[in-house]
Amino acid sequence: MAASSSATFTSLSLLLVSSLFASSLFCVSEAQPSVPVVKGLSWSFYESSCPNLNSIIRKHLKKVFKKDIGQAAGLLRLHFHDCFVQGCDGSVLLEGSASGPSEQDAPPNLTLRAKAFQIINDLRELIHNKCGRVVSCSDITALAARDAVYLSGGPDYDVPLGRKDGLNFATQNATLANLPPPTSNTSKLLTDLAKKNLDATDVVALSGGHTIGLSHCSSFTGRLYPTQDPTMDKTFANDLKQICPTNTTNATTVLDIRSPDTFDNKYYVDLMNRQGLFTSDQDLYTDKRTKDIVKSFAVDQTLFFEEFVKSMIKMGQLSVLTGSKGEIRADCSVRNSDNKSYLASVVEEDEESLSEF
Ligand SMILES: *[C@@H]1O[C@H](CO)[C@@H](O)[C@H](O)[C@H]1NC(C)=O
Ligand SMILES: *[C@@H]1O[C@H](CO)[C@@H](O)[C@H](O)[C@H]1NC(C)=O
Ligand SMILES: *[C@@H]1O[C@H](CO)[C@@H](O)[C@H](O)[C@H]1NC(C)=O
Ligand SMILES: *[C@@H]1O[C@H](CO)[C@@H](O)[C@H](O)[C@H]1NC(C)=O
Ligand SMILES: *[C@@H]1O[C@H](CO)[C@@H](O)[C@H](O)[C@H]1NC(C)=O
Ligand SMILES: *[C@@H]1O[C@H](CO)[C@@H](O)[C@H](O)[C@H]1NC(C)=O
Repeated sequence: MAASSSATFTSLSLLLVSSLFASSLFCVSEAQPSVPVVKGLSWSFYESSCPNLNSIIRKHLKKVFKKDIGQAAGLLRLHFHDCFVQGCDGSVLLEGSASGPSEQDAPPNLTLRAKAFQIINDLRELIHNKCGRVVSCSDITALAARDAVYLSGGPDYDVPLGRKDGLNFATQNATLANLPPPTSNTSKLLTDLAKKNLDATDVVALSGGHTIGLSHCSSFTGRLYPTQDPTMDKTFANDLKQICPTNTTNATTVLDIRSPDTFDNKYYVDLMNRQGLFTSDQDLYTDKRTKDIVKSFAVDQTLFFEEFVKSMIKMGQLSVLTGSKGEIRADCSVRNSDNKSYLASVVEEDEESLSEF
């Protein structure tokens, strides 16, 4: 009797402990259903067609980031660019898209890291070798961004999946029109992102992506020359002038001076100390509509992580192609209809299946 009641007690406390553990482990997942999933996407899209998808990506990116943690910011940025310009359809990955991998059409301030494109295609190869051509390049980009966040210290979260890859290139006009420049003030950010159903909290949370990564001088020298932006901390400005001595210097510096390679809430602490790098960053702490949100994230990293996850899931579903729309590219940088080796392999497969008769 005593033994059985102590056994009951033990299993009850085990249950309690394990449910506490589970709830802290999955607190982010539990918050996820509050973000609606668009029709055609699902949390378990590849569960049977590619069960190891998450682990293939995470394992590979761990290796990549061990060599160069700077790639994490590049992958996060790639997903942002993809989603903001004609939806999360992998168009940013196409050679021939403005700021695409060939980069020939890209204005200098829009250049993405060539290596980030390469990493997506490497992941695509690993995944397609294991599961077949079932996972889209746009889904791989969304998952790579998630792991870039998580593996640099940020929150882990599930991503709704089932995006198809688009058939249209991203033009330079569309690219410029849909990516607010770093010189934007908060009014412009709020107006531009409202068109994508993203609100002030989303704008501040997504800006937190600047907790990792680098910027070229050209994105902020307008705040140093010819006259210094009075909202910028003086010591910070002097340090930046060392890095970018003229308005044409080609150099880079970190976006978050406190912890440049760690995904945390220090970016917001920078803003409160007037050490935001871009106008689009610093103005979030000047504008009345966003100032308190910045403060709330600066003092509460858990809150920032929760809001960031929500906003990423929201943004990650912008104008997605699903079902019979779009395709699953055999090579992320070319449409299947432009891919001679893919077309040849399809013909071969058809011939093989014909010969089976
Ligand atoms: C791109 O935008 C410019 C002006 O902003 C316009 O003159 C040009 O016609 C546009 N091109 C296309 C293809 O829409
Ligand atoms: C990029 O730079 C060009 C010329 O310097 C400018 O016209 C354009 O608005 C900038 N775009 C972005 C997104 O920063
Ligand atoms: C914000 O920038 C826009 C131009 O992009 C300008 O028209 C507007 O006056 C600016 N607003 C403030 C409050 O500075
Ligand atoms: C740099 O500054 C000079 C002198 O003020 C100006 O003429 C030039 O347009 C500026 N260049 C850039 C890229 O801002
Ligand atoms: C800036 O410098 C890098 C190498 O340090 C070079 O690859 C790149 O072409 C330069 N860009 C410009 C606009 O001069
Ligand atoms: C086309 O698709 C094949 C797979 O069928 C891939 O190996 C190849 O790299 C792709 N790209 C081009 C440009 O042919």
